[in-house]
Amino acid sequence: MGKKILLEHVDVPGIQTLEVYRKMGGYQAVEKALKSMNPDEVVEEVKKSGLRGRGGAGFPTGMKWSFLDKKSDKPRYLVCNADESEPGTFKDRYLMQRIPHMLIEGMICSSFALGARTSYIYVRGEMMYVIRILEKAIAEAYAAGLLGKNILGSDYSLDLYVQPGGGAYICGEETALLESLEGKRGNPRNKPPFPAVWGLYGCPTVVNNVETIADVPWIINHGGDAYAAIGIGKSTGTKLISACGNIKKPGVYEIELGVPVEEFIYSDEYCGGITEGRKLKAVVAGGSSVPILPADLILTTANNEKRLMTYESLSDGGFVSGTMLGSGGFIVFDDRQCIVRNLWNFSRFYHHESCGQCSPCREGTGWMEKVLHRIEHGHGKMSDIDLLVDVAKKIEGKTICPLGEAAAWPVASAIRHFRAEFEEHVRNPDSCLKKHLHREAALAH
Ligand SMILES: Cc1cc2nc3c(=O)[nH]c(=O)nc-3n(C[C@H](O)[C@H](O)[C@H](O)COP(=O)(O)O)c2cc1C
Repeated sequence: MGKKILLEHVDVPGIQTLEVYRKMGGYQAVEKALKSMNPDEVVEEVKKSGLRGRGGAGFPTGMKWSFLDKKSDKPRYLVCNADESEPGTFKDRYLMQRIPHMLIEGMICSSFALGARTSYIYVRGEMMYVIRILEKAIAEAYAAGLLGKNILGSDYSLDLYVQPGGGAYICGEETALLESLEGKRGNPRNKPPFPAVWGLYGCPTVVNNVETIADVPWIINHGGDAYAAIGIGKSTGTKLISACGNIKKPGVYEIELGVPVEEFIYSDEYCGGITEGRKLKAVVAGGSSVPILPADLILTTANNEKRLMTYESLSDGGFVSGTMLGSGGFIVFDDRQCIVRNLWNFSRFYHHESCGQCSPCREGTGWMEKVLHRIEHGHGKMSDIDLLVDVAKKIEGKTICPLGEAAAWPVASAIRHFRAEFEEHVRNPDSCLKKHLHREAALAH
């Protein structure tokens, strides 16, 4: 069994309550930080830990914290990104639902480190049940003197609010999130300035993912070095992976970074193998935005090394033969899955969710969706395949925020690795359509 930092106590009955969470050692990090450390020492431990942002980009958290404009006399804010709308990603909601005080403890410790006196958890609006759980836990923390004025008798005070999200995937992009939190339409901002200088209400702000913040109490309790000793190389610590698709045991798993992908898919500790003993066809390893890889490349790198669940190993081979750890949304496709149909589904999502500010994304996502629709529905032309690649290229790198790349990479990688399947759809549309109809009929039974 791998090391558990976040999910160790997740099945303890009553762990959602302050009483049980405290019995299991909860809030010791707040005591330690507030009574025996200064904010810079907390930042230093997080730097030492090598913790990288768990929201998708993997940016080093300690470094991000040290960019916060400390010379400014404006208030500073910590905003937790709990918008979690990336298809295939469902780890943050699990953590907040099952062990809400862990995030609240992380928010207190991290806000203390950053000198924030007011902090927010921005939760995807559709997750009302999570919002209610968090609000109840926050009320318990206030009543116990863990939030509010002079926490645990110290001179540090913090107010923590939960904000329901605006109901769009784009509101998870950190600057769109800040706009939405300010009560405006969630459109991404041009950068620079970055949130560390010009964030919420024009004040220095750090935006971090739920899992990133939930890791902080463990780092304070055990030290940054102990955290850095888990994992491999620059992929330190553990990572929550939400696994779904054609696997025997879908769910949320905490892995030590460095587990071989093959072990993650086939061992009973994790996904338990492919459903009905089918063959593995492809994997989207880090949420719908990352490049899809066929079975051979997800298990083994182009250099014939075992592919590991780390930032570095998954991206080995760049965009030619690699992918990304991303948000940890691990989607498995068996040999019955149609890549074209799945890609059309992803493209519909990105078209719907494009905020429309940048023309390459606004027009390009719709164009890709329409071309994929016609290939999938038997009206495609061979030239459509290269047209898709061309449109994807014209979106990538030409938008204010990375939603453009998120829409383009799945298309470019699916065609790179599964071109024959696209060609087959064009050449023989009837057989593909019949296959889908058979499969849907079988699923209906
Ligand atoms: C379209 C889009 C949606 C995003 N959605 C989320 C999200 O739901 N949760 C999240 O933590 N990060 C999301 N991100 C990444 C955030 O912009 C940001 O990098 C992250 O919250 C930083 O936290 P971290 O450093 O702890 O990873 C999204 C990015 C984009 C472009």
